[in-house]
Amino acid sequence: MARDVTQRMFFALWPDQEVRAAITSFASALPLHGARPIPPQNLHATLVFLGGITRETRHALECAVDGLCRRPFALALDAHGWWRRPQVLWVGASTVPPELVQLVAGLNSAAAELGLKTDPRPYQPHVTIARKARQPAEMSAFQPIAWTVADFCLVESVAGAGGVAYCVRRSWSLTT
Ligand code: 2AM
Repeated sequence: MARDVTQRMFFALWPDQEVRAAITSFASALPLHGARPIPPQNLHATLVFLGGITRETRHALECAVDGLCRRPFALALDAHGWWRRPQVLWVGASTVPPELVQLVAGLNSAAAELGLKTDPRPYQPHVTIARKARQPAEMSAFQPIAWTVADFCLVESVAGAGGVAYCVRRSWSLTT
């Protein structure tokens, strides 16, 4: 029935063009050893992964997020690495601004209020740049990337013949 239809969704920070270009430029210079690079248009930093949610849950969640306290912040992408188990290469932030901690906590609480289970691990801001990475990439020169975060969004992950597409369904400004 229609009410059981779900959308696979997550909250994310969506890089502006400049930040996206900087990440892409760094990622494209890496020796990938068979890892699969993330297409530039798909680069993002997940805030909270929700999984499949119904329209009703999505609506309730959006209403809850409307009421969250939101403040802009600067994020320095100053770290990079490889995680063995998810087999990903990433760039990330070694320091998590308090505004980001607060935002992620607010989103997690809103999701929990609606009975959704989210990732309980401590939040590690990162942008995955390649998947199926079986080994670290030799990363030489890495110029930290300064990201002024002025908004965040709710994104749908849509599987297609050409791979997954990430469609931004709703954005919230952090500056108003
Ligand atoms: P990742 O980049 O660290 O792998 C869309 O799939 C986004 O949600 C990805 O950025 C991914 O994070 C994250 N994601 C996917 N499945 C997840 C899961 N089961 N738990 C937590 N995060 C997940």
